[in-house]
Amino acid sequence: MSQPIAIPARSSNTVAASASPTSSFSSPQMKVKVLHPVENVDLRLLLLENISQDAVAAFRAQGFHVDHHTKAMSEDELIATLPEYHAIGIRSKTKITARVIKAASKLLVIGCFCIGTNQVDLPAAAQAGIPVFNSPFSNSRSVAELVMGELVALSRQLFERAHELRHGVWNKQSKGCWEIRGKTLGIVGYGHIGSQLSVLAEAFGMRVIFYDVLNIMALGSARQVESLSVLLAEADFVTLHVPELPETINMIAQPQLALMKKGAYLINNSRGKVVDIPALIDALKSKHLAGVAIDVFPSEPGSNGAPFDDQLNSWASTLRALPNVILTPHIGGSTEEAQRLIGEEVAQSLTRYLDYGSTVGAVNFPEVDLRAMTQERGDYIRVCHVHRNQPGVLKQVNDALSPYNVEKQYSDSKGEVAYLMADIADVSIEEVAMLRERISNTPANILTRFLA
Ligand SMILES: NC(=O)c1ccc[n+]([C@@H]2O[C@H](COP(=O)([O-])OP(=O)(O)OC[C@H]3O[C@@H](n4cnc5c(N)ncnc54)[C@H](O)[C@@H]3O)[C@@H](O)[C@H]2O)c1
Repeated sequence: MSQPIAIPARSSNTVAASASPTSSFSSPQMKVKVLHPVENVDLRLLLLENISQDAVAAFRAQGFHVDHHTKAMSEDELIATLPEYHAIGIRSKTKITARVIKAASKLLVIGCFCIGTNQVDLPAAAQAGIPVFNSPFSNSRSVAELVMGELVALSRQLFERAHELRHGVWNKQSKGCWEIRGKTLGIVGYGHIGSQLSVLAEAFGMRVIFYDVLNIMALGSARQVESLSVLLAEADFVTLHVPELPETINMIAQPQLALMKKGAYLINNSRGKVVDIPALIDALKSKHLAGVAIDVFPSEPGSNGAPFDDQLNSWASTLRALPNVILTPHIGGSTEEAQRLIGEEVAQSLTRYLDYGSTVGAVNFPEVDLRAMTQERGDYIRVCHVHRNQPGVLKQVNDALSPYNVEKQYSDSKGEVAYLMADIADVSIEEVAMLRERISNTPANILTRFLA
């Protein structure tokens, strides 16, 4: 099942344009020049928290020195270890604080091999010139498939029957059990997950309606409705796929539950605070709803094996005791495929930044990229200049670049940090040292790298 992770080639000098590391390269005949950092030839990566061996092998194949650890590191361990490294890959347990960033003098980039980035002090990283990458949407399909399973499981009372038989009770019945074919699925939030689910549900013969704050082109025969109330009144199954925002907290509470059809089902695989659970318990007790599946909770245990009880959420034991309620421990996106995709995406982002300077997809940084250099066009140097976002910087940098032909240049800013990339032609390696000195000494400089 396992396949090698694909990241742009570093060991060869030429790759075909179809394997272009940047998205904007156009001609299939041209050869893309593979770049390397001029000043950091032996880049060292520290991968913690048992990041996939596929990612380790792919980084090593690119010529990076990789140290791999199965566990997270404490703040003090990171402060002692990280100064040796140019890049770090973590999951959710390693905290990269401002103190850690201050100590990590060579650190160029942080890869979060997971969905969230709360474990990193993002402003401190940006101010140190360090972009942070993650993989927010790699598990969309996994969540959509779980919802499909839950639709069938709820409408067939699967968990009740299976639970009874596991306890030795044969209880065959069809009352209150339905096919999902021909039923209406109401999707709230038609983003990465909601739209995938729409396609899968139609393949099952469901009618799909959705509500989103944006006007989104419907896939297949799905139909966007004008309000949440319309969706709640029409749908046999309501499934939530919105982010947690002030306006989505408790977006499904007593008034919304009352609008749902009698005998309808609710699925929440989005964020725990989107549903008012005490109100949901009332709707289940009164049999207004026929069943619910919940994968996310307002408070979730911090580790496996920890209790899910009334101390964590005051209503936990009441909810656990209700019939046709499927409770799962936030597993929506937890599949081997999703982990593999996360590894592949974050490894690609780190390599693209280290070798090509691209920050597309960084969560804390201006997103800048340049189309690839071609082999045919002589001695190009790529300048990557992270600086404080203040007036006069571009003039100073362009003065330094003015003796050369600037083939392409792009800059952008985000908050207090700005990033400029420029490809300049016919620069000798000797002149690079002089240019580095000049640009690095401009007053707003945070970090200047040269790729060739
Ligand atoms: N259970 C899990 O393991 C798991 C895994 C992945 C994602 N998630 C969660 O699923 C949710 C959806 O993820 P996604 O990747 O599809 O996100 P997304 O950003 O691609 O899509 C979210 C959609 O919700 C819409 N939206 C925002 N506010 C809204 C509102 N008030 N009313 C209606 N629509 C609104 C947005 O316009 C967008 O189209 C997120 O909360 C995410 O954290 C859970």
